[in-house]
Amino acid sequence: MLVQEFFPRRLFEGTTVFVTGGGSGINLGIACNFAALGASVAICGRRQERLDAAAEQLRTLGARVHAEAADVRDHARLEAVMGNAAAALGPIGVLVCGAAGNFPVPAEELSANGFKTVVDIDLLGAFNATRAAFPQLKQTRGCVLFISAGMAYVPYPYQVHVGAAKAGIDMMMRNLALEWGKYGIRANSIVPGPIAGTEGMRRLGGSEFEARQAAAIPLGRYGTADEIGQAAVFLASPLAAYITGTVLGVDGGSNLPGSSAFGEAIEAMRRAEGKG
Ligand code: HXC
Ligand code: NAP
Repeated sequence: MLVQEFFPRRLFEGTTVFVTGGGSGINLGIACNFAALGASVAICGRRQERLDAAAEQLRTLGARVHAEAADVRDHARLEAVMGNAAAALGPIGVLVCGAAGNFPVPAEELSANGFKTVVDIDLLGAFNATRAAFPQLKQTRGCVLFISAGMAYVPYPYQVHVGAAKAGIDMMMRNLALEWGKYGIRANSIVPGPIAGTEGMRRLGGSEFEARQAAAIPLGRYGTADEIGQAAVFLASPLAAYITGTVLGVDGGSNLPGSSAFGEAIEAMRRAEGKG
């Protein structure tokens, strides 16, 4: 992790960072980068076992940690867990809304409940977290980071549910930046490109397609979870004190040429599964 070489090691000392979906992948990478800079870290997800393993990793970086299961679709549960996190670590200064669900499926095969499920986790879940954290964010004059995706502004095949949910997240982010600026609360989105070794890329491409897909990315490679963590740290830092209402792409330019390389990989995966 390079982050300590570029930012003061105690930058987030006294700050509580709450990460939804923080038990794995990109979100855990974000949590680790904050932990490396002195933050106390709270994480939630549906599986306590996964959270406990992630908490161990965060503690090795020196962080105080609160890890408690909550489904982001359950607003009351989130409120309770955020209250427990504040009691253990102090009020939330940075909220990262990263919990998400994804599966590739042609729109004509997607059930109404399948569409609803992804919108409920990604979009409603992000609102639930933000709404539940609001009293604490108001107290700390904190900030919110939403983890979006290129599907929010480039149509990807078999991603109608995810595109709708992530586009909704980015618009919600702008609304919250507009309304909550008066409380000193900033809101921004990060759009990760394809990040190596993640569940998202396992579902949307598979490692066997990585080299071919990477060739279509202007910077020629997948990103790392640390690179998303570094962008998150920057957006939450005083360096970004005047940045709110923005979408920051951290994607190696991967969305510039459109979605055809990813579409081909998803189609090849579906064919291999006997679906296409
Ligand atoms: C079609 C599917 C499906 C699939 C589920 N459904 N999987 N439809 N193809 N592969 C449908 C079900 O049939 C059901 O509809 C509805 O969705 C709800 O399914 P459940 O299994 O009951 O949902 P739930 O247990 O809440 O699980 C949510 C989930 C699951 C999203 C379906 O995959 C999950 O927990 N995902 C979390 C991890 C994850 O997805 N990580 C990747 C994030 S990456 P019916 O009509 O049958 O009732 C990402 C962006 C990557 O978001 C971008 C890369 C560039
Ligand atoms: P991941 O490891 O599957 O992360 C998703 C996390 O959310 C998991 O820890 C999961 O844990 C949790 N989660 C899922 N449903 C939840 C719910 N209902 N309530 C609470 N927590 C829930 O996937 P990832 O690939 O790292 O993706 C992380 C984020 O980056 C997502 O927002 C994704 O859309 C975004 N993104 C990823 C990529 C990529 O290349 N991977 C690219 C662009 C954007 P449980 O299952 O235990 O709940």
